[in-house]
Amino acid sequence: MLEVFGLKAGYGGSQVLHDVSLRVGEGEVATLLGRNGMGKTTTVRAVMGLNAPRGGELRFRGQAIAGLPPEKVAQLGIGLVPEGRQVFPTLTVKENLLATAADRFRRPNPWTLPRIYKLFPRLQERQNQSARTLSGGEQQMLAIGRALMTNPWLLILDEATEGLAPVIRAEIWQTLAALKRDGLAILVIDKNLSALKALADRHHVLEKGETVWTGSTAELERDIERVRGWIGV
Ligand SMILES: Nc1ncnc2c1ncn2[C@@H]1O[C@H](COP(=O)(O)OP(=O)(O)OP(=O)(O)O)[C@@H](O)[C@H]1O
Ligand SMILES: [Mg+2]
Repeated sequence: MLEVFGLKAGYGGSQVLHDVSLRVGEGEVATLLGRNGMGKTTTVRAVMGLNAPRGGELRFRGQAIAGLPPEKVAQLGIGLVPEGRQVFPTLTVKENLLATAADRFRRPNPWTLPRIYKLFPRLQERQNQSARTLSGGEQQMLAIGRALMTNPWLLILDEATEGLAPVIRAEIWQTLAALKRDGLAILVIDKNLSALKALADRHHVLEKGETVWTGSTAELERDIERVRGWIGV
């Protein structure tokens, strides 16, 4: 689904990513782990075309995507739940869900408003409220719902449970497990190692802009002390 190889990227004069490689297979959940400032969000931004790669390869469903503008990457089928949620604050819940909605690939059982409302009943109750009036957890559900409404092949979540109450976090993890059962490929960035171990198939650890460790969940269990050293949790 997604293959990143030897990715380099940065901001102005500072190089942040030196050698990032990762892979998300079809129907797989993969993680990107690493302490603050190690380059997780920069990696996601480079994949999405929000930050031009300076080297390396990006392939999505077999196609080279490095250098494509963000709208093209989105159209190819990558849905992003960005760090800090970033819902459209002045639009209603329903308008947020519809703003970027698309069904380009004509797959069976596409995401629709009723299906999102079934997944997150709270969004239906609040569908005519402006997004800025939602709680943090509700905004996160909206950000996930909005990404799903683009009917992506791959969903990327950048710290989707950050700052949320435990009960809301649990709801988000349950939702991701249901999406995985549904066959969606997911790349998830999060600090909750135990939730990630339960959900994900493959893990990647970033240290100062480099992938320093990659392995399955079983390999992660075996190497947990080393990995904890890098990710600090
Ligand atoms: N817009 C920017 N301009 C300049 N430097 C930036 C910018 N965004 C991020 N950086 C720098 O790039 C490095 C990697 O940041 P990035 O946001 O990718 O890390 P991260 O792994 O997502 O961290 P966190 O866990 O805190 O979200 C940091 O040193 C950061 O200061
Ligand atoms: Mg980040």
